[in-house]
Amino acid sequence: MTGLFDELKIRGVTLRNRIAVSPMCQYSCVDGMATDWHLVHLGSRAVGGAALVFTEATAVTPEGRISPQDLGIWNDAQADALVRTVAFIREQGAAAGIQFAHAGRKASMRRPWDLPGVVPESEGGWARVGAPSAIPFSDTFLVPHEMTAGEIADVTAAFVAAARRSLTAGFDVIELHGAHGYLLHEFLSPLSNTRTDRYGGSFENRTRLLREVVTAVRAVWPETHPLFVRISATDWAEGGWDLPQSIELSRALKQLGVDMIDTSSGGNVATATIPLGPGYQVPFAEAIRRDAGIATGAVGLITDAEQAEQVIQSEQADMVLLARELLRDPYWPLAAAQELGQNIAWPAQYLRAGPKGAPRRN
Ligand SMILES: Cc1cc2nc3c(=O)[nH]c(=O)nc-3n(C[C@H](O)[C@H](O)[C@H](O)COP(=O)(O)O)c2cc1C
Repeated sequence: MTGLFDELKIRGVTLRNRIAVSPMCQYSCVDGMATDWHLVHLGSRAVGGAALVFTEATAVTPEGRISPQDLGIWNDAQADALVRTVAFIREQGAAAGIQFAHAGRKASMRRPWDLPGVVPESEGGWARVGAPSAIPFSDTFLVPHEMTAGEIADVTAAFVAAARRSLTAGFDVIELHGAHGYLLHEFLSPLSNTRTDRYGGSFENRTRLLREVVTAVRAVWPETHPLFVRISATDWAEGGWDLPQSIELSRALKQLGVDMIDTSSGGNVATATIPLGPGYQVPFAEAIRRDAGIATGAVGLITDAEQAEQVIQSEQADMVLLARELLRDPYWPLAAAQELGQNIAWPAQYLRAGPKGAPRRN
């Protein structure tokens, strides 16, 4: 039986356990540049024992940022600024992952700890946001313009350029953000995509952009390097994207060389009611894993060691991604190992702390 602290080998990368740091926006950049915050924040979680540390959603174009303070990888200086953080993560024995994102119609918004709403151009926002169709997320967001075929092709090219830069920066894993109502998800869902060209209408057309991005990124991302896609398995709304479509999409993505479906949900319908509860998205990861035959990551309200162990042991998912619990405690994996009676290596610098209750060594 496979457990939380067993290794996971994907292509040329061996993860030391099944725990990943889920991507989390830090809204702490100027011009998309990583800072010491990223080194300390992501670095601490690598020290804390996670096997795979993802950056936050990292914008592939300036207008693809959620907020003006988002991390970016649309130029070489931004990739250079990430090198030190990537190297540090890897020195701690973790793999370094980067989540590529384009915010689509949810762009140019204020970061959560500022007043809510759209950021005006006078404060570094951008009035023109693109989406599959001219439908706003809600009346507190900008009304997007319907992207032209040329703009869609430019987005794919931006993902490819970002992949090339990420390789140079030393990343091990790329995750494409196809969830939470951002651009790639907006194309998938009939509620946000009402196009009548080859990017809208049928399942094949709505999934075309994501499939094109995957194909183009896979072509430049080495065979040895894993490629993940995060999806929202359901819009939690009538007539929206749902689990059967997610399973069919996951089958197609597997054929295109995707290694893992990081299975989240929601974010595309402002009025959706989501039945939150411990591990509430795990059944989606389980269904996709079983019915599409692809590795999955489970995420969402996974907070305790036994619960995480159970997800892996019962083969509902191949890895767990934790977000808020790893904000509360960057060393959660080390503590979870102790709780589960697993003997994992502590950083040499922290050996004298050791597990709680162990005899003190001088
Ligand atoms: C501060 C914060 C920032 C987040 N930013 C991102 C992001 O950049 N990309 C993403 O896919 N999800 C993002 N999320 C969602 C998390 O990755 C995760 O899916 C969600 O919080 C549920 O997991 P949890 O219950 O372990 O927190 C963010 C969540 C938080 C709390």
